[in-house]
Amino acid sequence: PERFDFVVVANRLPVDRIAGPDDKPQWQRSPGGLVTALAPVMQSADGAWVGWHGAPDEELAAFSHSDMHLVPVRLSSEDVELYYEGFSNSTLWPLYHDVIVPPEFHRTWWERYKRVNARFAEAAARTAAPGATVWVQDYQLQLVPRLLRESRPDLRIGFFNHIPFPSPEIFAQMPWRRIVLEGLIGADLIGFQRPSDASNFLRSVRRFNGYTVKGPAVQLTDDDDRPARTCRAEAHPISIDSRTVAELAQDPAIIERSIQIRAELGNPTTILLGVDRLDYTKGIRHRLKAYGELLADRQLAVGDACLVQVASPSRESVADYMQLKDQVELTVGGINGEYDTMSHTAVRYLHHSYPQREMVALYLAADIMLVTALRDGMNLVAKEFVAAHADLRGVLVLSEFTGAADQLKQAVLVNPHDIDGLKAGIMNAVNMPGQEAARRMRLMRRQVLQNDVARWSDTFLGSLNSGAEEPAEPV
Ligand code: G6P
Repeated sequence: PERFDFVVVANRLPVDRIAGPDDKPQWQRSPGGLVTALAPVMQSADGAWVGWHGAPDEELAAFSHSDMHLVPVRLSSEDVELYYEGFSNSTLWPLYHDVIVPPEFHRTWWERYKRVNARFAEAAARTAAPGATVWVQDYQLQLVPRLLRESRPDLRIGFFNHIPFPSPEIFAQMPWRRIVLEGLIGADLIGFQRPSDASNFLRSVRRFNGYTVKGPAVQLTDDDDRPARTCRAEAHPISIDSRTVAELAQDPAIIERSIQIRAELGNPTTILLGVDRLDYTKGIRHRLKAYGELLADRQLAVGDACLVQVASPSRESVADYMQLKDQVELTVGGINGEYDTMSHTAVRYLHHSYPQREMVALYLAADIMLVTALRDGMNLVAKEFVAAHADLRGVLVLSEFTGAADQLKQAVLVNPHDIDGLKAGIMNAVNMPGQEAARRMRLMRRQVLQNDVARWSDTFLGSLNSGAEEPAEPV
């Protein structure tokens, strides 16, 4: 097989399958920021991407798409159930997001997580050239760095955790906590979203595995107890392709579409917008609770105000996600039944995902963006809303429990658990004078345009390859 100097390993490949003419499967590059950031690196450094192609039980040979070499990893239906829906999304996801729902610990899930991680590590080992750089992504693959180092000590190994890392007090629940940490420590550099995630990780490593930690580095020794290498933990907050979003926001067709959206909603004075995967970490119910109460209190009135909630389908076979969908739809139905008029709706609920152009039109149409996550590694929607508002219009209401709150300090920061505080934050945004909103938006846009996703990957890879001790980006 062909070998590459730069290898990305992620649960998902950066392409989605679409039905082509006469039902022949075709591929389309995924819209995500990670692909945008890494595609140029892959092209200039002769890179390959190892990941799952999304179809259970299907075996697929390596192929090229969008100038990237793609190496598919096969997952059986049972792998999907035990490794993906089970250990990744019903154990790790809730555990790492402050146990918003109780994580489940099943030995069968864990056994499968180990097996599937080994499969990804083997695929990466086969794909990497001697001395290559390998960058492993996210919580689904925490055992890969160690497995890879065992089989390929010549590699430089980075890991990036896109979601929060919990405090040692919460991480302690994990029955296999030491093995998970050993898995991660196989990397030379681990990137986290926030400094607090990095320090949570380092505290866990010290507490549960007994390693010495100096500054941001875990000190590792060889069999004779001599210093061998270090594993560094740094904050590298991820971002978006800011320039592309800002440019789309200036596209006359998209501006026209944003005016049309407003008209279709009956030209309300204030459009509030929520855009999330339908996930219990996003605080959608808290947001609906606050909005419903503002209508009940008559601080907001239908016709003047409209909440557009885009909830894109996600992890629909996982029980907690099915339950959330029912709860959200019951609540939306309740609010609309109570407050809708023949001509206007209180909540326009859309259980779909949309192309990027439509999303930018929505951001532009919105007056207030509501990001009320109970816990979120970063939250890129907040950054997209900011990048889209070249017109300096619009106010961001942002949960302090997101990574984005570290960077977007001029947002109206809220604690979504505090419904009265959330209502006050929303009304503060509704009543904010245009000049003040523009001042805040200008500062936030400067932040997001300067710190885009290309800068994120450059600084991470720069630090990985230099072995520098200090975080590359000020946070
Ligand atoms: C989060 C995770 C990603 C994941 C994405 C979509 O952003 O950090 O690793 O890919 O959600 O979830 P899914 O389970 O559909 O891949």
